[in-house]
Amino acid sequence: MFTTILISVLIISLIAAALAAVLAVSENYLGDYGPCKITINKESELEVRGGKSLLALLSQEKIFIPSACGGRGTCGMCKLKVLEGGGPLLPTEEPFLSDEERDSNVRLSCQVKVRNDIEIQIPDEIFAVQEFKCRCADILELTHDIRQFTFELIEPEKIDFVPGQYVQLFTPAYEKSSEEVYRAYSISSDARNDGKIELIIRLVPNGICTTYCFDYLKEGDEVKLNGPYGDFQLSDTEAPIIFIAGGSGMAPIKSMLHQMVNTDNKRKASYFFGANKVSELFLGDLMKDFESQLADFTYVPVVANPEPEENWDGETGLVTEAVKRQIDDASVCEAYLCGSPGMIDASIAVLKELGMKEENIFYDKFA
Ligand code: FES
Repeated sequence: MFTTILISVLIISLIAAALAAVLAVSENYLGDYGPCKITINKESELEVRGGKSLLALLSQEKIFIPSACGGRGTCGMCKLKVLEGGGPLLPTEEPFLSDEERDSNVRLSCQVKVRNDIEIQIPDEIFAVQEFKCRCADILELTHDIRQFTFELIEPEKIDFVPGQYVQLFTPAYEKSSEEVYRAYSISSDARNDGKIELIIRLVPNGICTTYCFDYLKEGDEVKLNGPYGDFQLSDTEAPIIFIAGGSGMAPIKSMLHQMVNTDNKRKASYFFGANKVSELFLGDLMKDFESQLADFTYVPVVANPEPEENWDGETGLVTEAVKRQIDDASVCEAYLCGSPGMIDASIAVLKELGMKEENIFYDKFA
């Protein structure tokens, strides 16, 4: 009986190994579609080897398309127009495209496999995106699962970004992942300090990039990132501002607050920052500095479940409940939100209840 089981396991293992070998060979040979041409904006042409996604081939040629999920088809950010070639629209793309986008041939570049010549159109600002070689200069533990990483720029030496924008951090293959990936993180630094980029990153269990950053990346190591991307940024109106964030959603709001100090912005602003426990709040001293530097700024930390021994006497419950308690009428305000999809959706619902117009709500949702 035991021998029969052993032989069966052996046969199954051999079949699995043979299948893996066939897949590897197919990937190398059948997945190679030979030389293909990518024509961009009817102007430039790239000669590539077909077989990979359009996103990957463009990135290989140093043309970086926003891709917050690293090409997994879950963020919907890698859109561009495919005017010719590219094959039919895939079911994985459909949920991310409006009727109008489908009619104008918008596709998710991570889902389009290049098998023959292809013609695409991409916005001019994408060409302004650069790749930066950096050195990890400092790693600061903010909470048990959130750290602030400071990267000194080596080449180019400076970055020009608008507070609220994000970069994509490259993770090389390492012990726990054979995949090379990019992940998007909002810049948290002061744009005036253009020789550095600071990111606030929360550890995602089994996350390829965050595990690399938390368990492998050390001060002094070189990393690559590209950017800046995104249009999440302060408007130039005088409308009072409601900021709402949680966890690493602190990043773009912190950068915007530096910007408000630098430009002597006098807009009234309230910042509701949600955490589960008091120990999950961070950068409180910096927020106090902002309160003293800005004309009319209030920081409102909100703790959902404070422990009795934490002696918390501030706002409690969900961050949206605190917003409701403190704001009676949001009809003339603008809101800037950053956090999980659940927190953003709940915040939008509450702000609309308080009279805010949808077009005055700006957000950066984690993919
Ligand atoms: S990179 Fe294509 S959907 Fe995220």
